Amino acid sequence: MPCFIILVFLLIRCFIFTSSSCQSDRNQDHRPRVSCVGQGLTAVPQGIHTDTQVLVLTGNQFTSLSWSMYSGFTELHELDLSHNNISTLQPPGPVLEKLSVLRLSGNMLTGLGGLVFRCAPSLMEIYLDRNQIGSLQNDTFSDLPRLEVINLSQNKLPVLPPRLLDLVSSSSLKTFDLENNSLSLMPDGFFSSKPELPYVYLTHNPWLCSCAVGYLHSFLNDQEHNIYMHEGLYNIISAADSVLCSGPPHLLRRPIIELEESDFCPPDPPHPSGDQYTKPFCILSDLEHPRVVPTN
Ligand SMILES: *[C@@H]1O[C@H](CO)[C@@H](O)[C@H](O)[C@H]1NC(C)=O
Ligand SMILES: *[C@@H]1O[C@H](CO)[C@@H](O)[C@H](O)[C@H]1NC(C)=O
Ligand SMILES: *[C@@H]1O[C@H](CO)[C@@H](O)[C@H](O)[C@H]1NC(C)=O
Ligand SMILES: *[C@@H]1O[C@H](CO)[C@@H](O)[C@H](O)[C@H]1NC(C)=O
Repeated sequence: MPCFIILVFLLIRCFIFTSSSCQSDRNQDHRPRVSCVGQGLTAVPQGIHTDTQVLVLTGNQFTSLSWSMYSGFTELHELDLSHNNISTLQPPGPVLEKLSVLRLSGNMLTGLGGLVFRCAPSLMEIYLDRNQIGSLQNDTFSDLPRLEVINLSQNKLPVLPPRLLDLVSSSSLKTFDLENNSLSLMPDGFFSSKPELPYVYLTHNPWLCSCAVGYLHSFLNDQEHNIYMHEGLYNIISAADSVLCSGPPHLLRRPIIELEESDFCPPDPPHPSGDQYTKPFCILSDLEHPRVVPTN
């Protein structure tokens, strides 16, 4: 009898743990999942079943994303490498045909080149929040026809490549999260190729309210119903009026959507009377010392 109990125990143990330190179960979608969390790993442990669809490797010591490390997992649907020490994505390797969700939150990425996700052509969700990303290329998210979610929140982006969204070939992009970056300017026409993005997050950026904020101002007015911010861990709230100016000083913390164009782009001050100002702006009255008269 004790032998039988030990045997049952060993069988259960074998079922629950594929290798001593990784746990096997199924996620909420009933996909086979293996989790190896917080073990100082720098490579995928031996012995993980190749039918695994969800591989969770959070809180380890991976320093780069090596596509070839996962090529044996032909069914891989989700790869979670959050909270590692990843600073580089290795150049394209074998294609991970079924990879749909890639989690790289809380790593050490500082920039992303062009086409860096090319090895995962089925990607639908990319989580890059809480890195140190300061630069992207126009084609960073190109060639991903099923892409729905891009999370870039809590990074250090000072500018966006103007054609970033143009070159997202997916027509199903739904979520674009830029909360908490260092953006001061939205490039003109940035959203024009994706005019009705359902979830756009733009709060906690130092937007500069000069004439160049005109595009963002009209985008917010037009897309008010699609602008959100995060509140707490799980809630989102409608937040077009939480996209605020960080300058110039007289507009500090004013909601951009509530401004009039004349607030951020005042018309030229009235011309003082006096005949020199009504003449053409460049008068070459003296060829040796051309006199340039300001237009305003
Ligand atoms: C992360 O990696 C860098 C090298 O890229 C290393 O210097 C640093 O000690 C690592 N940090 C941790 C917490 O492992
Ligand atoms: C993006 O990441 C941030 C920070 O981790 C998180 O709070 C937010 O919920 C994520 N946004 C989306 C749309 O998943
Ligand atoms: C993106 O494309 C625009 C227009 O083609 C170009 O001016 C800009 O330099 C590119 N930006 C990057 C980061 O490659
Ligand atoms: C913004 O991100 C920084 C870390 O990058 C974090 O310390 C801060 O709490 C975040 N602020 C908000 C409002 O999310």
